[in-house]
Amino acid sequence: MSAYEFIDHDYDVVVVGAGGAGLRATFGMAEKGLKTACITKVFPTRSHTVAAQGGISASLGNMGEDDWRWHMYDTIKGSDWLGDQDAIEYMCREAIPAIIELEHYGVPFSRTKEGKIYQRPFGGMTTKFGEGIAQRTCAAADRTGHAILHTLYQQSLKHHAEFFVDYFAIDLMMDSKGHCYGVVALNMDDGTLHRFRGHQTVLATGGYGRTYFSCTSAHTCTGDGGGMVLRAGLPMQDMEFVQFHPTGVYGSGCLITEGARGEGGYLTNSKGERFMERYAPHAKDLASRDVVSRASTIEIREGRGCGPLKDHIHLHLEHLDPKILHERLPGISETARIFAGVDVTRQPIPILPTVHYNMGGIPTTLFGEVVKPTPKNPDKTVHGLMAIGEAACVSVHGANRLGSNSLLDLVVFGRAASKKAAELVKPNSVHPDMPKDAGDFAVSRLDKFRNAKGSVSTADLRLEMQKTMQSDAAVFRTGETLAEGQKKMKAIWAKRADLGIKDRSLIWNSDLVETLELDNLLYQAVATVNSAASREESRGAHAREDFPTRDDEKWMKHSTVWVNEKGETKFGDRPVHMNTLTNDCEPVPPKARVY
Ligand code: FUM
Repeated sequence: MSAYEFIDHDYDVVVVGAGGAGLRATFGMAEKGLKTACITKVFPTRSHTVAAQGGISASLGNMGEDDWRWHMYDTIKGSDWLGDQDAIEYMCREAIPAIIELEHYGVPFSRTKEGKIYQRPFGGMTTKFGEGIAQRTCAAADRTGHAILHTLYQQSLKHHAEFFVDYFAIDLMMDSKGHCYGVVALNMDDGTLHRFRGHQTVLATGGYGRTYFSCTSAHTCTGDGGGMVLRAGLPMQDMEFVQFHPTGVYGSGCLITEGARGEGGYLTNSKGERFMERYAPHAKDLASRDVVSRASTIEIREGRGCGPLKDHIHLHLEHLDPKILHERLPGISETARIFAGVDVTRQPIPILPTVHYNMGGIPTTLFGEVVKPTPKNPDKTVHGLMAIGEAACVSVHGANRLGSNSLLDLVVFGRAASKKAAELVKPNSVHPDMPKDAGDFAVSRLDKFRNAKGSVSTADLRLEMQKTMQSDAAVFRTGETLAEGQKKMKAIWAKRADLGIKDRSLIWNSDLVETLELDNLLYQAVATVNSAASREESRGAHAREDFPTRDDEKWMKHSTVWVNEKGETKFGDRPVHMNTLTNDCEPVPPKARVY
């Protein structure tokens, strides 16, 4: 029995998170007549999707010939053959209607002279199965996420979805059979505790970029859904695959969109060489992100980095027409001025590969249902629980995501989840009784941290974790660095028991909420470093110097990982789907991945 009093709410569906995926699902579910609650720890239009810059991919063919099958091929190759081909087919095909819908909902895309949606080139996006460069990324200048997020929020309001803003979701309510009943959340405005009951609970909580010291992710990207799932005894998938974006601003890590290279920008080393010509002779600066990040890291390691410390790379835009910079890249021009003190019309921007995206996440079906694999059934679903967006691993990105496929993933699978929920849930149907102890797990955890009187501060422990992940689970990894990372994370986990909370209040910005967030990060940092140590091959963003090649025989499989309360991990795997969903396309057999 809890010492706290719960305020109870019943909804057909409860969505946790109000970024692109959360809002697309929220509004889609509300549109279908489901009583929909959206719980979010920040105001919806401040969710991290707002920071997505360069665009959203779809083979509309507005700027030249295109085909969703070419997009599918590029995505499979970009994933280094770890993406599920049926899911990739679904995403690339559905991209077209999903973007046209967005246009009709009111997203203010940039336009061509003919009034069509403007599309720019992005890394790894080609025509004719790798022959040419595709212009496939639909853009609203360099503020595409901002434009989409605002439109989806407006649509959600129009369809009467109910928002619970400044509510921090603590833990899932599960029963002993593993069924999910909803989620417990803290109202950070007044410190009240709430139980949200839903026939489906949808985790759209984003990635866990803040496990690292330097990342493009907002401070809110603490992987809250992943933490909840691991504590519920469910696995995460492919956690070793962390994407480094080649162009984070040196020092601050702020994103400079790949669209900058799409519009003609290029990278140089201290000798002024366009080094990407050596690493990716065909695609050059528009090779896949993992390739460009590795190339930049090698240049710096071999002494060809820029600046007095030879520790960064230059991104040049000064040769571009100022009109293009003004019209197509206004946001990054401002970012470069504020965070690097650079006028992009005159000087190169100092940049460095920076953590940007988690390919791994909560395993799901194509329609967002969370999967808890068993030896007999690798696709067994969890009753009442869905996950979408960066929190999820469908898996369409495999070992490496292509730029502009993220906004697409949010929209396509947010939409797919809303369709699935409408199939599974009858509006206003009666809720089954919740287990008697529903909510107690969340409260005991809240209480534990609230009463933590140890000697370690949340801020110090977070910094230790971030520095460890940055140095030991980096662009390049070896058995040695990963073993060091495992050892350090073990010690960091042990210090979790010695945390001391100064500000115990239940309102936002308190030590307590930051500690709950840190706890979510710790679970996923442990999952990541241990999964990375376990996978003895190089694939996509997981570059092992001691195992430099891809090993399809041993490792063409998704890894699954469980983390228990002691910080111990257990591993499993799931097969990669090499089949297509329909006969409208062919599976793409694995081959060497060159750009
Ligand atoms: O570079 C960018 O604009 C980021 C896009 C993405 O991660 O998809």
